[in-house]
Amino acid sequence: MRQREQWSSRLGFILAAAGSAIGLGAIWKFPYTAGQNGGGAFFLIFILFTLILGLPLLLAEFSIGRTAQDNAVNSYKKIAPGTKWYWLGITGMITSFILLSFYSVIGGWIIIYLIKALAGDLNGLTSEEYGNVFGATISDPIVSILVQFLFILLTIIVVAKGVQKGIERASAIMMPALFILFIVLVIRAVTLEGSLEGIRFLLQPDFSKVTSKTILEAMGQSFFTLSVGVSVMVTYSSYLPKNQSLPRSAISIVGMNIFIVLLAGLAIFPAVFSFDLEPGAGPVLLFNVLPTIFSQLPFGMWFFIAFLLLFLFAALTSAFSMLEIIVSVISNGAPTKRRQWAWLTGIAIFIAGVPSALSYGVLSDVTLFNKTIFDLADYSVSNVLLPLGALLISIFVPLKMKKTQLYDELKQGSGFKKGLFETWFFLIRFVAPVLILAVMFDVLGVW
Ligand code: PHE
Repeated sequence: MRQREQWSSRLGFILAAAGSAIGLGAIWKFPYTAGQNGGGAFFLIFILFTLILGLPLLLAEFSIGRTAQDNAVNSYKKIAPGTKWYWLGITGMITSFILLSFYSVIGGWIIIYLIKALAGDLNGLTSEEYGNVFGATISDPIVSILVQFLFILLTIIVVAKGVQKGIERASAIMMPALFILFIVLVIRAVTLEGSLEGIRFLLQPDFSKVTSKTILEAMGQSFFTLSVGVSVMVTYSSYLPKNQSLPRSAISIVGMNIFIVLLAGLAIFPAVFSFDLEPGAGPVLLFNVLPTIFSQLPFGMWFFIAFLLLFLFAALTSAFSMLEIIVSVISNGAPTKRRQWAWLTGIAIFIAGVPSALSYGVLSDVTLFNKTIFDLADYSVSNVLLPLGALLISIFVPLKMKKTQLYDELKQGSGFKKGLFETWFFLIRFVAPVLILAVMFDVLGVW
């Protein structure tokens, strides 16, 4: 049998998995979704879901991947031969496809700002002017399609060459740099006049604003930021040697994610309130607020350019994982076909994403269920497909994997205590399916 590729170290794996997790979810999606859902209560519910559901599910995906050591579809085939469970992998591929089709639109927006900042077009504008410049740019059909294409192109090139692992080394520098820049940004934001209201908005829960929709979106947000429910983490952990600790990896990824979500919130909301902007502005929120905060810093534009580069990098490492899961299944480990499939799949995703890219311009009036095409893609992935994937994983693991085998898998390379294991198993077996179903049914108005 052909020797499968493996990560060279635990750090390589952590960086790749964290790279998949940390991206637009924490930095772009969290602030705008929290902004639309009243702030503090949403943040708190998001943290609870991340700890009660996200972390256990991440660990569940890790154990599937490392037990089976195969791609997202074959892993289910190996563990439950002769059953239809491999559809879980196929659903993950479809979800990834739709996800990347709109993710690349936002990736393109980062590229727009990068080009504009480098060209010096953003110097000395007021917060309102930034919003107007941005709004005008993303409504231009040619520009928005072009930058979306650029983002996908970068993703394809890396995945086609199969050089993600080289990129992981770079993230050992880029991620900490992003954290540091974020901390600078937070310090500037919380010292702005009138920032207190923003801090309160994020940290003081107001439960009167909580509806079933808030709860569903907080759950979707926690799956989205952890890349859970798509079998991406099954794929990544399948490359991991047996002597590495899965629980420790999962905990550090969750920790980093919560930290970056907190930083994003603490950078955005104080500024939103200080500049009198609208917290519920939707997907454009981050892009309207960021340049204004940076313009308040000495050498702000340079900081802004550095930030955009790191942000683009973070978004790309997530995009790689979305394309990788699809390509690794279709090319089934044959490196000669990988290149072809990466290009074909990437181009197909780009074409599928064009209507999303046009949703802020010529197609802004085309709506279904009151949502633009972009919003519909975003909503159906975050609030339907990811919870569905997560639900099925929480049923699959206790049903098709032996408890003793799971314990052996999880305690390899770590001192995972029996008590902790039992807690995890309980959360996966009972709490996760019941809670996910309850939240989904609640929104449908079943009770
Ligand atoms: N976690 C990624 C982010 O926050 C998005 C993602 C979701 C990536 C699911 C892969 C799978 O940006």
